[in-house]
Amino acid sequence: MRIVLLGAPGAGKGTQCKRISVRYGLLHLSSGDILRQERAAGTELGKKARSYMDSGGLVPDEVIVEMMAEAIKKASQTGLVLDGFPRTVNQAVKLDESLTGNGQRIDVVLNLNIEQEVVSERMTGRRSCPKCGAVYHIKNLKPKVEGKCDNDGAELVQRPDDSLDVVKNRFRAYHEQTKPVVDYYKNNNTVYDIDANRVVDEVSTLVFDILDTLIEVRSDRRQ
Ligand code: AP5
Ligand code: MG
Repeated sequence: MRIVLLGAPGAGKGTQCKRISVRYGLLHLSSGDILRQERAAGTELGKKARSYMDSGGLVPDEVIVEMMAEAIKKASQTGLVLDGFPRTVNQAVKLDESLTGNGQRIDVVLNLNIEQEVVSERMTGRRSCPKCGAVYHIKNLKPKVEGKCDNDGAELVQRPDDSLDVVKNRFRAYHEQTKPVVDYYKNNNTVYDIDANRVVDEVSTLVFDILDTLIEVRSDRRQ
C-alpha cells in the first residue's frame, strides 16, 4: 500500500506516519527527516537544502524529486507512507509519473486538518531525537525520562526551524504551495480529511479506521 499524508507544519504528520508504519509494516519516508540527515552528514544535497530550510521556504523541486525517487525505489516491495512529500503540485505530478512508469499508484491520501492556534502550541513544545528522528512534546507526548529519547537515550533537541519567524514562513509556503496539492489529489484520488485537532490517540484511531476498512475491502475484492 502507498499512502500520502498531507497537512500543515506541526499537524502531526511525523507522529501519525510512525504509527502507521509500525501497524502496517510500511516504510516511513519523511522528506524533512531525510533532508535533516543529509545536512547532519554534510552532503552536497544537505548544503543545497540548508538556506531554504532555515528560512522556512521549500527546497527546489528538482532536488526533492530526485532525492525522494531514490528513497522510494528502495520501498518497491514493502509499501510506504510519505510524510512531507509531495509538497507542490509539480512534485505530485512527478511522483505520479514515476509510479505509473512502474505500474504503481498512490492508494490513499490522508489530509490532516488543523487550526493554526493548535499547531503553534504543538510546534513550540516539540522535541525530537537527532539520532532516530522520534518526535515528542513537552506536554502532550513526553519521553519516559525528561529530555532523553526512549529509543536510544540521545539528548532531545528543538528543531531550529521551529522559531516563530521561520514558522510564519513555513505556513506561508504551506498555504501558497502545498494546499493546491490537496486539490490535485481530490481531482485524481480519494482524499480522506482527518480532524487532527484531537489528541494523538484519537487521530490515530481515525486514521487506522480508514486504513483498516480499505485493507478489508481490498482483500474482499481479491477473494
Ligand atoms: P518537515 O520536516 O516536513 O516539516 P513540516 O511539514 O513543517 O512538518 P513538521 O515536521 O514540522 O510537523 P509534523 O506534521 O510532522 O508534526 P509532528 O508529528 O512533528 O520539513 C522541514 C523543511 O524541509 C521544510 O520547511 C522545507 O524547507 C523542507 N522540505 C521538506 N520536505 C520538502 C518538500 N517535499 N519540498 C520542498 N521542501 C521540503 O508533531 C508536531 C508536535 O506536536 C510534536 O511535538 C508532537 O509530539 C505533537 N503532536 C502531534 N500530534 C499531536 C496531537 N494530536 N495532539 C497533541 N500533540 C501532538
Ligand atoms: Mg514532521
